[in-house]
Amino acid sequence: MASHLHSFFPSSPFIILALVLAFVPAFVHALTLESDIETLRALIQSLDPNSFPSTSYLRTWDFNTDPCETSVGFLGILCSVTANTSASRIIAIELDGVGYEGYLTPAIGNLTELTALDLSNNRFRGPLPNTIANLEKLSKLNLSGNYFTGGIPSDITNIKTLELIDLSTNHLSGSIPADLSVIRRLLYLSLSNNQFSGRIPNLSGLWRLRTLMLDHNVLYGNIPQLPISLRTLSLANNLISGHITPVERITELRILDLNNNRLSGEIKEEILTLPQLRELDAQGNLLHGHLPVRLVTYENLRTINLAQNRFTGSIPSEYGAKLGRPWRRLFLDNNFLTGSIPQEFYKVKIRGSLAMNCLKCPTSIELCHGGQQPASDCAAANNSQ
Ligand SMILES: *[C@@H]1O[C@H](CO)[C@@H](O)[C@H](O)[C@H]1NC(C)=O
Ligand SMILES: *[C@@H]1O[C@H](CO)[C@@H](O)[C@H](O)[C@H]1NC(C)=O
Ligand SMILES: *[C@@H]1O[C@H](CO)[C@@H](O)[C@H](O)[C@H]1NC(C)=O
Ligand SMILES: *[C@@H]1O[C@H](CO)[C@@H](O)[C@H](O)[C@H]1NC(C)=O
Repeated sequence: MASHLHSFFPSSPFIILALVLAFVPAFVHALTLESDIETLRALIQSLDPNSFPSTSYLRTWDFNTDPCETSVGFLGILCSVTANTSASRIIAIELDGVGYEGYLTPAIGNLTELTALDLSNNRFRGPLPNTIANLEKLSKLNLSGNYFTGGIPSDITNIKTLELIDLSTNHLSGSIPADLSVIRRLLYLSLSNNQFSGRIPNLSGLWRLRTLMLDHNVLYGNIPQLPISLRTLSLANNLISGHITPVERITELRILDLNNNRLSGEIKEEILTLPQLRELDAQGNLLHGHLPVRLVTYENLRTINLAQNRFTGSIPSEYGAKLGRPWRRLFLDNNFLTGSIPQEFYKVKIRGSLAMNCLKCPTSIELCHGGQQPASDCAAANNSQ
């Protein structure tokens, strides 16, 4: 560099010294790896600049400065802190959800030090590039709330560091990769609100998984074997059939949402052993038999929705003592329950419904509003039991 400068300022060694000193801070702060800068450029170039609001993060990306120079713009990225002269790397991209429109460049796979990628609540469209699988240090992937199409890149299972995957609310389709269980660190997986189809694979190997959200897809088949570590499970609004039994081993479960599927059979007492349960929603299935009495033993249960099934028999008298505290919501409407209702229903007001059953349910009670089934339907249902 000195000789280069020398040709510009042949007779001025003082100026040369001044220039060299001016560069010193730049050598102390390692600059961003050139290929990471190229990738940031490729990322922004595959988006429509007209979709960048004036106060958005991407408006601060000015490539006349170094992205990892902390004093300048580039909001939405984090860089590695380098103690020595090696180049800084981009370790996180967490964009603001302001509606950025465009594609996710395959060049993203070159950011090999990336640990977090959050592009949620924007208008990314097109496929998830396969090169995502090169991000071998990624622990958080949040692409929720976009318009991504196509399937989950099967090589995503190469990323053994993933702890959070949120692909909810996109237009993704295809099946859930069968070997997802190899991502052993997973704590959170949401594929909600997409068009995923096929069967749910055996995920019981994901021994740390706390949250599994697969609701609002077109998944079918039985409930598979699931991790017993789950706290929250939603399979709602799919075409899941068969018995509810496989959830019995998930003893730490807090929230169980199975609404609007095709589950059938009875809820046998020995099955529902979920002492921590807070919310149970199995509305809109084909469940039959008697209502499970065991629900009254769950200290934390607040919300119960077993509406729109084919339950028969009476409402267990034990339910009465639970109304109001701890039970806040009780939906048993649209079944074939018979007999009178426990006395407490006359006194305690809670949210819910007992309508459209075969109950003796006086309309002075709010839960009874909406009437009961026609007597002929009640007779038919009770004869078929
Ligand atoms: C990403 O890496 C590939 C393979 O090394 C290279 O061909 C491509 O130009 C890189 N893209 C960017 C934007 O740096
Ligand atoms: C410093 O540089 C050496 C050699 O390039 C590298 O192995 C080491 O990890 C670097 N240390 C830090 C803290 O980045
Ligand atoms: C992903 O982003 C959305 C929107 O910003 C947020 O609501 C959601 O909690 C995030 N998912 C995870 C797992 O953090
Ligand atoms: C599910 O996977 C686990 C191990 O990951 C295995 O032990 C179990 O047998 C599998 N279950 C079924 C039904 O294939």
